[in-house]
Amino acid sequence: VIVVRNRADLAAARGDLQGSVGLVPTMGALHGGHLALVRAAGAAQEAVLATLFVNPTQFGPEEDVAAYPRDEAGDLALFEQAGVAVAFAPPVEEIYPTGFSTTVRVGELAAVVEGASRPGHFDGVATVVAKLLHLTRPDSAYFGQKDWQQTRVIRRLVEDLNVPARVIVVGTVREPDGLAMSSRNRWLGGPARGAATCLVRGLREAIARWDAGERGVDALEAAIAAPIRAEPMAQLDYASVRDAHTLRPVARADPPLALLVAARVGGVRLIDNALIGEGLVDVDARHVQPRHPPWRRRRERGAH
Ligand code: PAF
Repeated sequence: VIVVRNRADLAAARGDLQGSVGLVPTMGALHGGHLALVRAAGAAQEAVLATLFVNPTQFGPEEDVAAYPRDEAGDLALFEQAGVAVAFAPPVEEIYPTGFSTTVRVGELAAVVEGASRPGHFDGVATVVAKLLHLTRPDSAYFGQKDWQQTRVIRRLVEDLNVPARVIVVGTVREPDGLAMSSRNRWLGGPARGAATCLVRGLREAIARWDAGERGVDALEAAIAAPIRAEPMAQLDYASVRDAHTLRPVARADPPLALLVAARVGGVRLIDNALIGEGLVDVDARHVQPRHPPWRRRRERGAH
């Protein structure tokens, strides 16, 4: 993997990439969910360009950006193994130089649910993602379903700002007990790690009721919330059944639906979701394999 740290080197490395490019933006602290994004990008594009940048503008005043887990050497080794061609890992000043003063704000979609709990969060996400899309000019950009509302916000901004890239959503990758993979999971101590499955248990119960015919929004939201309320280590933030695309409240639980949940478990804020409807996720993370092993792709590109 070629590691670049400034815009000039990124432009040069991007210019050297042949054929279609898939962008995988990350904040590092990589886990199986990120690697599924890289694999999905590698299976569909000639080259994968990943970014590693803990974006300070998406953290609120009460959230500690300095405490976000970081392991750059480990992350770059994982990118290398996964066949990433170029990794852009800039310092903060490269993305936000002195005088930087533009914010991309995506209206109502960014203000509800997760946006209401974390004011300004999606402004930071939209601003940095807009910059990364301009800097890397990908054919497609890959995002995980776990941050479902983020995928809707980014899709909106790509459409509204006429960014010539496709947004691809890759399904959530889960631990064997169902916990959605997240960089924050490494903060869950022993008992909190077990308790953290209360989010997915609530979602699974709600899906089971929906499958059995329940279409009442209140009943489904109560089903999501029940295991979280019953868990002494957890505090529920929201359990919400929404239109999957607009994130608006719905009167009846008809697809396309997003069942969205956020809770603190042992002091760690976790989110998860389940989707009901066709075609909401583009790639099932369980089925993605690299199209060629990385060594072969490098040789094909003549990089030896
Ligand atoms: O999902 C994330 O890791 C971040 O929100 C992203 C998309 C890399 C922007 O900083």
